[in-house]
Amino acid sequence: MSLKDVLREKIEAHRSRTKTLVTKHGDVKVGEVTIAQAIGGARGVRCLVTDVSYLDPEEGIRFRGKTIPEVMSELPKPKGKDYPYVEGFWYFLQTGEIPTQAQALEVVEDFKARSPVPQYVFDILRAMPRDSHPMVMFSAAIVAMQRESKFAKFYHEAYDRRTAWEYMYEDAADILAKLPVIAAYIYRMKYQGDTPIASDPDLDLGGNFARMMGIDSPYDDVARMYFILHSDHESGNASAHTTHLVASTLSDAYYALSAGINALAGPLHGLANEEVLRWIQDVYDKLGGKIPTKEDLTKFLWDTLNSGKVIPGYGHAVLRKTDPRYTSQREYCLKHLPDDDLFKVVSSIYEVAPDILREQGKAKNPWPNVDAQSGVIQWHYGIKEYDFYTVLFGVGRAIGVLTNITWDRGLGYAIERPKSVTTAMLEEVAGV
Ligand SMILES: CC(C)(COP(=O)(O)OP(=O)(O)OC[C@H]1O[C@@H](n2cnc3c(N)ncnc32)[C@H](O)[C@@H]1OP(=O)(O)O)[C@@H](O)C(=O)NCCC(=O)NCCS
Repeated sequence: MSLKDVLREKIEAHRSRTKTLVTKHGDVKVGEVTIAQAIGGARGVRCLVTDVSYLDPEEGIRFRGKTIPEVMSELPKPKGKDYPYVEGFWYFLQTGEIPTQAQALEVVEDFKARSPVPQYVFDILRAMPRDSHPMVMFSAAIVAMQRESKFAKFYHEAYDRRTAWEYMYEDAADILAKLPVIAAYIYRMKYQGDTPIASDPDLDLGGNFARMMGIDSPYDDVARMYFILHSDHESGNASAHTTHLVASTLSDAYYALSAGINALAGPLHGLANEEVLRWIQDVYDKLGGKIPTKEDLTKFLWDTLNSGKVIPGYGHAVLRKTDPRYTSQREYCLKHLPDDDLFKVVSSIYEVAPDILREQGKAKNPWPNVDAQSGVIQWHYGIKEYDFYTVLFGVGRAIGVLTNITWDRGLGYAIERPKSVTTAMLEEVAGV
């Protein structure tokens, strides 16, 4: 059975569960909202539903019920490689089933057919100022392709809510297959003297991305690992929630993903991975190029906090332990680049930052998140232009959010519209 046939069965079987919950148990409470939550970014308010991933505060992320090590070991991999096919992971995230090698390869072939990017996208990218942020280019390229949307056409010509997810899926797969091409094009155009490299039809998504970036093996495995690790982190994080919110208006995947990418570009979200490198670079500059010792780092961390800034790559809205996505990348570094200077600095930060954050007493989670480690690996393989790192995050994040909006459509989730109150109303409720 093809991915889409499996998905059809799963979505149709799932619909009755959602319907029963809404029609028979719709009044059951799942939580309460406090004033602190209403003002404080809705932290912990349970008002989103997704089965694609779940973030346990102590354990970290599970994709479709599986931990990161389980995903990495159970999914099919290209011959001789350590990390799974991104295409097989897409199959898994969409359907919840581990694909066979043959099923993963079917998606590899399907994505190849979907991957050509319309020429006008390159023309648009070329017309933008070369110093535009790569996230601006990435987001613009995605929204520019909206004219290709099969969902938008279907909506205007023959809309039927029961089959709407199929068109959403088509758009989602079309976009995801093109994103590595767009990202690599931006990189080669902007930072490598405008020397784009054509894709190779014999390679999978990860292999092809490495090729189009112009970076040798094992960067293909880095790409596979990186995209999978960054794919999904529940529905409430800013990029996932934005994508879901925009899609809930019956906007198509092009509009929705472009909006989610814009959310990812914020310094408190995806941009943190470039902030980490910028911050470390700043330490080097202040020390005249010397590799910082733990004492240097301790001083620099305190200076950062005392100047009112956050320690990039540390803390999390939900997690209360070291992020397993950090651990997974750290394991890669221990195996492949144990002597890398930057890795050593990042490891030293890991040794001092949690205690400093605890002593400062503000951050609820003093442990590192995914962004504390990501840049080191990219830097090691020659991607030193750290403003590009968030684009890499964006390619990965697309896998998760595009899966979510496919299911949103399949289960007929409503347009989002939480209720606002005024400050005076809160004061009245609080008896101020
Ligand atoms: C991720 C993040 C935005 C979560 O924010 P949050 O849910 O509000 O986190 P908390 O509830 O722990 O915040 C409580 C306080 O601790 C501070 N804090 C949290 N993480 C901090 C950090 N890494 N460095 C310094 N202060 C931090 C917050 O700014 C907040 O201060 P305030 O009360 O003066 O506003 C926050 O930890 C952060 O800014 N981290 C650095 C950026 C980063 O790595 N982002 C990537 C996340 S995947």
